[in-house]
Amino acid sequence: MNRRIACGVGSAGVDWQQRADVVVIGTGVAGLAAALAAHRKGSRTVVLSKAPDTATFYAQGGIAVVLPHTDDSVAAHVEDTLAAGAGLCDPDAVQSIVADGYRAVADLVDDGARFDESAPGQWALTREGGHSRRRIIHAGGDATGAEVQRALDHAAATLDIRRNHVALQVLHDGSAVTGVLVRNADGLGIVHAPSVVLATGGLGHLYRATTNPEGSTGDGIALALWAGVGVTDIEFVQFHPTMLFDREGAGRRPLITEALRGEGAVLRDARGEPMTTHHPMGDLAPRDVVAAAIEARLRQSGDECVFLDARSIALLVQRFPTVTAACRAAGIDPTREPIPVVPGAHYSCGGVATDVYGRTDLPGLFAAGEVARTGMHGANRLASNSLLEGLVVGARAGLTAVEHSHTAGAPMAKVEERQHTALDRRVLQAAMTEDASVVRDAAGLQRLSDTLADATPRSMTTRAAAEDVALTVTARAVAAAALARNESRGCHHRGDYPDSDPAQAFSRTLHGDHAEACLR
Ligand code: SIN
Repeated sequence: MNRRIACGVGSAGVDWQQRADVVVIGTGVAGLAAALAAHRKGSRTVVLSKAPDTATFYAQGGIAVVLPHTDDSVAAHVEDTLAAGAGLCDPDAVQSIVADGYRAVADLVDDGARFDESAPGQWALTREGGHSRRRIIHAGGDATGAEVQRALDHAAATLDIRRNHVALQVLHDGSAVTGVLVRNADGLGIVHAPSVVLATGGLGHLYRATTNPEGSTGDGIALALWAGVGVTDIEFVQFHPTMLFDREGAGRRPLITEALRGEGAVLRDARGEPMTTHHPMGDLAPRDVVAAAIEARLRQSGDECVFLDARSIALLVQRFPTVTAACRAAGIDPTREPIPVVPGAHYSCGGVATDVYGRTDLPGLFAAGEVARTGMHGANRLASNSLLEGLVVGARAGLTAVEHSHTAGAPMAKVEERQHTALDRRVLQAAMTEDASVVRDAAGLQRLSDTLADATPRSMTTRAAAEDVALTVTARAVAAAALARNESRGCHHRGDYPDSDPAQAFSRTLHGDHAEACLR
């Protein structure tokens, strides 16, 4: 099957056109790391951004990094990452990214980022689930992402960043990228470019409630699938064990950082009983284990939430100002009462298939950050490995994109005609929440697939419409991949197949927007 057919119809009907060497889609850690790297190599770099906020901004816990002159080692960080990834990490990718972490963080410091110190000149280190050591640097207590975003925004202030630009299609000629089709306030446009970096973030808004910002609608997954590029491990949607509970809560919900448990907070059910993780790390087990334990307790008890008791943490308010503010806004005082929490859709461990330089198998198309699957996270991402991966692979993707644009010349992109369908967003989110959350089974996933098949034609004339189309494509991919994995592994728990099956310890790559017909 030829998965990559370009049916160019020229540029008739577009309202504006321009040219760049590298186009980066997204302004979180991976996008800005890529854009800065490309810009500093002298490339004409255009950055497209559809939304004001990024998942990076909301990251709380920190950046997992091995510091020199400590008792930590790259080997230990790699080992913890592989253990969390439940057999599906690519060990070479993990080694490559972890080993480059300290250098990438040093570059970020050169760009102005400041991390919390335990003594002058010594970064404070915390722990999160699945880490055998204290190796997580943080900023502003629990506002690490905000500091990373601030530093990168400042460094990127002179870059050509186009706000309110929605990428609709990666254009290509069948063998290489030629540009991007974009919608902005002036209408439809083409940015002609030989290199495009997808840094569009995640897909949390497949679900009714998520820790992700409003723009996390699976856009990059859809763009890659339409361009004929595969998506790997997409069934592994990570649910963070502790999202602030609110019965009516929908859309973006506050994260209650895992670093609280690293500093001594404990999980209890409504009767004060501890969670049963069956893991030597207890409440600090990798988050797939903790989320599953909470889910099991909620099903067994019929309760709506469990509780995180952080009252024993000294200087709670000073160390965790973001969490404290979120709790207080919800009428909860975490210094006096346990915090009600539930697992919440948090991170896509799978994504667009790339190598550790962000290269996909379509020349000129790169992906980095949450949208990409490098092999770093496997079936379950280790906490605070995502900012690390975004920094390392983002910068590498930017540099590699520049190299590609030097050899590829100046293509003329043609718009590719394509019909789209979408499901009503509320219907899609309800179906995903019901049937593709922490625990799934074949009957539910089949019901979900049937619901997703009811999508109706939709033109991508607004940002919301484009997002609905992307959500529908991405939901189909998640449903198809989850249905195909007849076992439990990492953050994919099948109620009908509760055990891992060594014969299924492999990654699966999907192609095509009708993913259910395209399983390899
Ligand atoms: C957290 O602070 O618990 C989240 C960190 C992460 O998602 O890596």
